[in-house]
Amino acid sequence: MKVLIVKSDVEGGKEGYKVFADEKKNGAKVFGLATGSTPVTTYKEIVASDLDFSNDTSVNLDEYVGMSGDNEQSYRYFMQSHLFDFKPFKESFLPNGLAENPDEEVKRYDKVIDEHPIDLQILGIGRNGHIGFNEPGTSRDVTTHKVPLTQSTIDANARFFEREEDVPKFAYSMGLASIMKSKHIILEAFGAEKADAVKGMIEGPDTVDLPASILQNHPNVTVIIDEAAASKL
Ligand code: GLP
Repeated sequence: MKVLIVKSDVEGGKEGYKVFADEKKNGAKVFGLATGSTPVTTYKEIVASDLDFSNDTSVNLDEYVGMSGDNEQSYRYFMQSHLFDFKPFKESFLPNGLAENPDEEVKRYDKVIDEHPIDLQILGIGRNGHIGFNEPGTSRDVTTHKVPLTQSTIDANARFFEREEDVPKFAYSMGLASIMKSKHIILEAFGAEKADAVKGMIEGPDTVDLPASILQNHPNVTVIIDEAAASKL
């Protein structure tokens, strides 16, 4: 893993942007995208740049089950308002939170990923070390799956909802096996509440208890973290 320690999330966004720009120069056509507060500064830099994605494809990591893309809390809505409205892609895939048949939806999404192998995947990390919505204990062999969210993740997401009962309890997520197929992965983490997860990911044992530690086995990972997130290394 290449680890880059920066002063702030703003500086981290500039570094993240540089990786996108370099990979585009190298011919990357398929970008794996993430939601959450972490990639926002990278998306801002991309929006302010002259990068053009209109011939490229995006494939997002996850979506809440039961949520329509018009819902402001959906990941589709997040992507529209932070990136796609300014930098449209030729095609942008996300799991469909309203799919009637979950088994078919996960198969459909696996096919999307197989047909569009990801050149560059950006990831955040949960406080418990999850990536996408692959919570601790998730098998490393799974591809797209429907996941019950852990209480820790529900609590972390509660700030975005008026009432805790409105926080979704399930999500569709790319699996760890799907994420590991990406040619290059950037993982970003900012803030002290990520410090334990970052330490486990980089220095800890490679274990299903901390899903991000699987990245120790990937040949091309760039970790971009601020000093607070790096404080336990
Ligand atoms: C969510 C998302 C993850 C994200 C994580 C951290 O659960 N499914 O993809 O990385 O939370 O979120 P944040 O970046 O807001 O800290």
